[in-house]
Amino acid sequence: MADPTAPVLRPPYVASLRRTLPGLLRDPLGTLVALADAAPEQVVRLNLGTIRPYLVAEPAHVQHVLRDNAANYTRAGDSMMWKSVRKLAGDGILSEGPQWEASRRRLQPHFTAKRIDAVVDDLSRAISEAVDELAAPARDGAPVDAASEISRIICQAVIRVFFGDKISVADGVRVVAEQDTVATALRFRLLAPFLPDAVPMPGDRAFRRAVRNIDDILLPLVRAERAGGTGGDDILATLARARDAHGNKLDEQRVRDDLVSIFATTTETTYVVLTWLFPLLEQLPDVAARLYEEIDRVVDPGDVISREQLGQLRYTRMVLDELIRAYPSGWLVPRTAVADDVIGGTRISAGATIVLSPYVTQRLARFWDRPEVFDPERFAPERPRRAHRYAYYPFGGGAHQCIGQYLFQLEAPLIVATLFSRFRYRLCEPGMPHPQLAASLRPRERVPLMLTPHRQPALA
Ligand code: HEM
Repeated sequence: MADPTAPVLRPPYVASLRRTLPGLLRDPLGTLVALADAAPEQVVRLNLGTIRPYLVAEPAHVQHVLRDNAANYTRAGDSMMWKSVRKLAGDGILSEGPQWEASRRRLQPHFTAKRIDAVVDDLSRAISEAVDELAAPARDGAPVDAASEISRIICQAVIRVFFGDKISVADGVRVVAEQDTVATALRFRLLAPFLPDAVPMPGDRAFRRAVRNIDDILLPLVRAERAGGTGGDDILATLARARDAHGNKLDEQRVRDDLVSIFATTTETTYVVLTWLFPLLEQLPDVAARLYEEIDRVVDPGDVISREQLGQLRYTRMVLDELIRAYPSGWLVPRTAVADDVIGGTRISAGATIVLSPYVTQRLARFWDRPEVFDPERFAPERPRRAHRYAYYPFGGGAHQCIGQYLFQLEAPLIVATLFSRFRYRLCEPGMPHPQLAASLRPRERVPLMLTPHRQPALA
């Protein structure tokens, strides 16, 4: 007799190469959303010729992979992206298994709400000083590059607050530029993860050179700190002092892997997201006007934003919540199935690649009203809660949930409000940039800005 508890099996929605390739080449992200829209409650089998991963977009299925049956879905193995990430970040918090667990235990305490609340004033001051450096180009009418400036501001702030100024800002900016090379060079390997490293691919040399350059900058700091550096409670000092489960000091490689991983995540994700804001606001004058009105009401130019002011920046936070719905920097969250399983009635074999994408799920028409419209009102506090916890998961979920979520939620409004309390801008090249397929979702074209000073501080 048939087992009544056995799941009803059905084939996946198959996206054939011939039907989908032109769309995937022209507009990969839009095509993935359209496929997921066409397959409610189903998984989509993507036939990419060389690999055939499953796109899992339905929120209940995302929950299954990230939480309910998470032990069956691993970042180890050769799944898209993680193999390349391992070559940069080693066996630390961006990996899997016991090394990941130990690394997460070491790093997470630096980013708890309590720890971040304790450094908010320092963060705000560092951001204020970094934003002030834009006064010269604004006065001289010199264009600035949005991504470079936002990443410099974030670098200055996190180096001060989390790394005890032990990395120079110039070195930090160089590391971010090398991280950018890594994130974009690995796109060639995204679609051919099974190819052995011995088979050369475009981007490989740039990738290897960038990892070497990052090590050239960060390894001497690791060595100096392990040899009895200046101490303190910054991340580098605590890593250098940390002990493993056997009471031994962490070896150089462990400290290096943790440092590289945490420097990359604190700097890269946030600036990539914020870069989208400038072209978006130019398209949306009503949103821009409300945002500017709130910032002008709450923040005086020259203010180092206080916690109380931060609490009043309600619309700013709604804009940012919507920004990471529409442009989640962690747009691609792949996993490899460890054992056979069933998702949405489709049998998933051990070894299969699963592609989760906050970008796709956060644009599903059956969960989001007019998903293509940028509408911060979706995140108004009085709005009813979303239909499903995993209809919106810009920071992932389950055991690997982002440890930087709370930091982002304070740091991003501080940057936006400090910047727009002092400057306005216009784009040098109008229009929305295209998304670049890379490890994080970034604009393909550069976003140059002309800044103008806004409301000078009152003379004392
Ligand atoms: C807009 C900002 C950010 C977005 C959209 C974002 C997104 C994500 C996502 C989707 C994951 C889950 C990865 C997975 O399940 O495989 C993740 C993990 C992670 N994030 Fe973030 N993140 C952001 C900012 C940050 C910041 C500021 C930090 C700094 C501490 C950070 C540190 C991490 C780390 C260390 C992990 C790995 C956690 C683990 O696997 O245990 N992120 N992030």
